Amino acid sequence: MVNYIEIKKKISKFNDEIEVSGDKSISIRCVLLASQAIGNSKIYNLLESEDVLNTLKSIKRLGINYKKVKNYYQIEGLGLDGYKTEKKKNVYAGNSGTLARLILGLLVNSKNKISLFGDKSLSGRDFSRITEPLKQFGVVINSNNSKLPVHIKGSEFLRPINYNEKLGSAQCKSAVIFAALKTPGKTRIKAKKSRNHTELLLKSFKFPIKVVSKKKYDFIEIVGRHNFQSFTYNVPGDISSSSFFLVLTLLSNKSKLTIKNVNVNKSRIGIIKILNKMNGKIIVKNKKKYKGEIISDIVVKSAKSLKSINCPESLNSSAIDEFLIIFLAAAKAKGISTFRNLEELNKKESPRLDISINFLQKIGVKVKRNKNDVKIYGNPNLELKGNFNVKKFKKDHRVFMMSCIAALTLGGKWKIYDKESINSSFPEFIKLLRKLGAKLN
Ligand code: S3P
Repeated sequence: MVNYIEIKKKISKFNDEIEVSGDKSISIRCVLLASQAIGNSKIYNLLESEDVLNTLKSIKRLGINYKKVKNYYQIEGLGLDGYKTEKKKNVYAGNSGTLARLILGLLVNSKNKISLFGDKSLSGRDFSRITEPLKQFGVVINSNNSKLPVHIKGSEFLRPINYNEKLGSAQCKSAVIFAALKTPGKTRIKAKKSRNHTELLLKSFKFPIKVVSKKKYDFIEIVGRHNFQSFTYNVPGDISSSSFFLVLTLLSNKSKLTIKNVNVNKSRIGIIKILNKMNGKIIVKNKKKYKGEIISDIVVKSAKSLKSINCPESLNSSAIDEFLIIFLAAAKAKGISTFRNLEELNKKESPRLDISINFLQKIGVKVKRNKNDVKIYGNPNLELKGNFNVKKFKKDHRVFMMSCIAALTLGGKWKIYDKESINSSFPEFIKLLRKLGAKLN
């Protein structure tokens, strides 16, 4: 069976409206939190991607039932002590760093040893960033070289911690918040700014969590051991999935696109801020508040003249999953773009900094790298001819999607391998491209 997609033609002009699937970060958090609530939670518009399906399977392994009813998932939570962990068990997180790290936080009160496994890409990623703070709660965690499988055995005598999160990692912050839910007393976190969906969800359940926001850091206090009731949640569209369509439209001719019902939470709109600093003129309209999140429609048109950016480091965390596609926009912009301190980018599903630099060089874009800083020499006239193959990118869904957008906007004849990678986060990606008129085989 062929596992590649062929693109031989740029996309023609389009004027359309789409809706992208549910936010991945929120979907995973909703399932995990519903597994801790008391009673039946209902989650509408849950992203049905592998990362989220693996989240559902994981809670099921731990004794929590769920079912799909019409257009929502019903999750039958049994409270903070509801996981069935009397026997040793294995849990499989697939490709998902978010699931793996967050669920470890919920296993701090497991009665027996739970072993966490993942696919090849996830098994190469570092877990010390999570195991170190979790150990301080009093649990036993073992692994070989901080890689999966990680084995965790919880404790009956958890103690609250003071934790300083310095990476700007929402996964680390959320794992510690999850552990704090189960721990008597007050856990305090000083966290470099990162996406805050966990905090907003807990606030919407009236869980005793307090957040004081300062410019660079959030100061969070959680008083643990409060059971919360089941909830209903309607997951908004994912801005990370939308980002591919934003750049597709900016780099296409005479096109316009509206993306409906996207979550434009302040901690996630780095992509819009960056593209607008590049003269992208993206408009966010019809804003509505929903359980602390902000849902809106995003309108984007073909860009007449994208310009380079000197990207403020303060936007790194809120655009962390979007740099691959941002680099593509920078390759087509006038001038030299600079990005700094992107160390975290090499710690994702694939080493995205290395991969994107190789990619840009392969399509003839001049790039200079100094450790984790990158300069991209943009060329508004960049047009490709000839053949391009994209393979060996650790099946990283975002590398696949970025490559499709490059093929559809720059020309050339492309074969992009491992097409099933999109199932991690955005199975509808190809269907939506076809809706806009893209020819992909
Ligand atoms: C995520 C946080 C980010 C991001 C990932 C999703 C989350 O990772 O890259 O795709 O849902 O918390 P880090 O927290 O490691 O930066």
